[in-house]
Amino acid sequence: MCGIVGYVGAREATPIILNGLKRLEYRGYDSAGVAVINGNQIEVRRDAGKLSQLIDLVAKSPVQGSPGIGHTRWATHGAPSARNAHPHLGNSGRMVVVHNGIVENFLELKDELTAEGVQFNSDTDTETIVHLAEHHQAAGVGLVEAARRTFKQIQGANVVVLLSADEPDKIVTARIGNAGGVVIGLGENENFIASDIPAILEHTRRVIFLESRQMAIVTRDSVRIETIDGQEVTPEIHTIAWDAVAAEKGEYRHFMQKEIHEQTRALTDTLAGRVDFKESRIRLPELNLTPELAKRIQRIYITACGTAAYAGMVGKTLIEKIARIPVEVVIASEFRYSDPILDENTVVLAISQSGETADTLAAMEEGRRKGAIIWSNVNAIGSQAMRVADGYISMQTGPEIGVASTKAFTAPLVDQYMLAILLADLRGVIDDKTRKELVADLRLIPDLVGRTLEREAEVEKVAHVLKDIRDCLYLGRGINMPIAYEGALKLKEISYIHAEGYPAGEMKHGPIALIDKNMPIICLVPKDPWHEKMISQIQQAKARDGMVIAIATDGDEIVAGMADHVLWIPETPWMLSPVITVLPLQLLAYHIAALRGLDVDMPRNLAKSVTVE
Ligand code: AGP
Repeated sequence: MCGIVGYVGAREATPIILNGLKRLEYRGYDSAGVAVINGNQIEVRRDAGKLSQLIDLVAKSPVQGSPGIGHTRWATHGAPSARNAHPHLGNSGRMVVVHNGIVENFLELKDELTAEGVQFNSDTDTETIVHLAEHHQAAGVGLVEAARRTFKQIQGANVVVLLSADEPDKIVTARIGNAGGVVIGLGENENFIASDIPAILEHTRRVIFLESRQMAIVTRDSVRIETIDGQEVTPEIHTIAWDAVAAEKGEYRHFMQKEIHEQTRALTDTLAGRVDFKESRIRLPELNLTPELAKRIQRIYITACGTAAYAGMVGKTLIEKIARIPVEVVIASEFRYSDPILDENTVVLAISQSGETADTLAAMEEGRRKGAIIWSNVNAIGSQAMRVADGYISMQTGPEIGVASTKAFTAPLVDQYMLAILLADLRGVIDDKTRKELVADLRLIPDLVGRTLEREAEVEKVAHVLKDIRDCLYLGRGINMPIAYEGALKLKEISYIHAEGYPAGEMKHGPIALIDKNMPIICLVPKDPWHEKMISQIQQAKARDGMVIAIATDGDEIVAGMADHVLWIPETPWMLSPVITVLPLQLLAYHIAALRGLDVDMPRNLAKSVTVE
């Protein structure tokens, strides 16, 4: 979702901003722009479409100077067009804004401003912000005070960045509500602003994260953080350990393919420091989980969106089976409207790659409001979901750039498996033998993942068979049922093929009517406790001429004799099997989309980080 980059310092702002925006492309956008202070003037270049169009525009009509701000826009109010692209200038031409979020009261504000004679030049809600700030400036206050008054007036979850030609030494930004992150990067005689760390990682690793209702006044040699109400805040300075190259594509054609292959490393890192194989114990220190707290928990609500929610569905089976705690999985966009029954003995566990998903953050807020214990399982370091939780488990995957989530799906599966063992241990509901076996199984994971990914060529062959299909069904049962949902989501979001995940046992209650020779059915049939049931499902599909593609365990003769194609996986302990069964489905979706010549990493209409409701 919208990406923001700002620069203040002695260097030319435009290349730094364009480069930063490039690194935020994964968030999804449909127009882009940049504004720079050149002498006493603000110059703006913006266009609809990809960043490459903006880069061409800037090459034809260069913009020089500093400071500057840039933006990639994911349209909410007004079509994706040059006129609606950010930055937006005020009527004086001396102030400019970029924005992420939705100004919920913009119609009301627009009416007031129009009545004052302000002229609107776009269909966006964003434009109200710059007109309001100019209105306050006209009353005789400086940029900071004008910005503060504006920030107080706008409702909703918003990140705003303002630049004024009258005070060209500074950029003012604010985070109002949960509208995605704002990172201030600290350099030597230069400072940076961005929506996410990769945009500025090549310049600095020292960063400050703005909290909700905080604003920053950033000059080349100072950063002042205040609440929107004007109280100075002493910020915590974080040092980011990621390597900038972790966000590069390297030898792979697409980030998604790279990230699929990174899972061997990511899951090795997931175990590192958390699993004590000698003592057969799990340590998750950032969760702040004591034996007293573990014993107090009566119910866990897992809340998340999309892929992260499917990871939570696997977690439900694991936590209920291993730790014997009842678990509900509630889609985050529904959570706060479902009036969930929460108290101090209930955990709300939010799972999120970005840690900035508006619905997930709102679900956490609902949990907080009702006095629950708030945990998160999150990838983006320093994100809001990590910071507002009472305890967290950080995914050890490194930045995930491809819009289709892959490594940030398997990491929470393993994180929740570890969490389940830890909870069971602290509650005293697991015997030593079982605990030792479960912990020992974790050691197998990196090797199993590596061996499964080595079979990519087989998956690619099946992708050639399926590349022109229009519809596809994914069936699974038990712990692998959410993998059917996830496989279908992966295919539909990057290949635009209609795909549905279904609990296999539900077929006979309706979807079986869809099956004929034109309907490929992807069946998850590893050696797990639901194996036999899945076999009978395959028989039913075959009896109706369906084309069956099975994900099955090496040496499974029964499946080999029934399925049209088999994607083989190595034998895996069943509770960890989703970590392995999902891998061929990720690769299959990837290869089908690549064969169709689609923009795998940035599928249409999608954003990596969904910071609006
Ligand atoms: C995953 O492939 C999707 N693009 C999407 O469903 C994603 O998982 C969802 O938007 C949640 O994002 P989060 O993990 O950053 O909260």
